[in-house]
Amino acid sequence: MLDVQNLSTVFQVHSHEVTAVDQISFQIPEKTVVGLVGESGSGKSVTSQSILQILPPNGQIKSGQLHWKGQDLMQLSRKELQQIRGKEIGMIFQNPLSALNPVFTIGNQLIETICLHQNTSPKEARKIAASLLKKVNIPDPETRLDDYPHQFSIGMCQRIMIALSIASRPQLLIADEPTASLDVTIQAQILSLLNDLKSELNMSILLISHDLGVIAQHCDHILVMYLGKIVESGSPQDIFKSPLHPYTQALIKSIPIPDPNIKQAPELIKGDIPSPMNLPSGCRFHPRCPEKLSKCEKECPSLNTIKNTHKAACWLY
Ligand SMILES: Nc1ncnc2c1ncn2[C@@H]1O[C@H](COP(=O)(O)OP(=O)(O)OP(=O)(O)O)[C@@H](O)[C@H]1O
Ligand code: SF4
Ligand SMILES: [Mg+2]
Repeated sequence: MLDVQNLSTVFQVHSHEVTAVDQISFQIPEKTVVGLVGESGSGKSVTSQSILQILPPNGQIKSGQLHWKGQDLMQLSRKELQQIRGKEIGMIFQNPLSALNPVFTIGNQLIETICLHQNTSPKEARKIAASLLKKVNIPDPETRLDDYPHQFSIGMCQRIMIALSIASRPQLLIADEPTASLDVTIQAQILSLLNDLKSELNMSILLISHDLGVIAQHCDHILVMYLGKIVESGSPQDIFKSPLHPYTQALIKSIPIPDPNIKQAPELIKGDIPSPMNLPSGCRFHPRCPEKLSKCEKECPSLNTIKNTHKAACWLY
């Protein structure tokens, strides 16, 4: 359904060109949850902004192809793109409060979105708005439509954002760190809500997180990103049972084990992620890699199929 081929996105910073996403390719088929995971600064948000073409003014897609249901997204007019954004491809962000307008009631905002995408009367749209709030488990939805964003908890605001993003029944929902500002219990509720909605609405989800633990239970396919490149991809089984790339292995070791009988502390990945202003030569993970070979500093490995769905970009394979 979504086909990303050799996508590279750059930013102009002073007189330098900074590559935030470098030659990445992946597909999102129908009714599939694809997880995109990587440390802060790896290029996850820039990937989603590139797909939707909502990059900041100093950013641009330098090369590559983006196809949505066979249409070349990069050849569409602004108007055609707007039709797809929000209607066919929905988006939810990390901070729900920044996406909700504080001066309008939740009902106003939902009704406006519904009327934009569906040919309905305001009365009918209000009914649909209440049913959407019910779908995302907001109690007493009829009354709560008249409340303002500040009258809801942060977890509830995230549910309302989800209600807004599914109002047009999108076929793909891009969820960029949808649980990052929430505590663990609410995180689990939001993820299970997304999972239920996925089945109910038959949609695909691109679930973005820096936390492999979040991605683990909810994805059909996982992409691991490091400094603008996809370094490993595969099914959850591939990634968790036999991780190949030393970066993925390190990410897995850094997940805390929630079992009081296991005394093993999570292992942090050595060093910081380098700046994309100053990318390491060869394999970008080499300054932090415990298994680096002499070749690794000089040549960058490409993402190759190792077995069936499992791909890795590493000279060890
Ligand atoms: N407007 C911008 N100008 C310059 N560089 C930018 C801009 N936006 C993003 N970048 C750079 O692009 C790189 C990728 O950023 P991105 O926001 O995609 O990371 P991320 O993986 O989403 O991280 P996080 O987990 O913190 O959200 C970073 O190095 C970032 O500094
Ligand atoms: S290519 Fe080399 S440096 Fe990069 S992850 Fe593999 S072993 Fe480590
Ligand atoms: Mg981000």
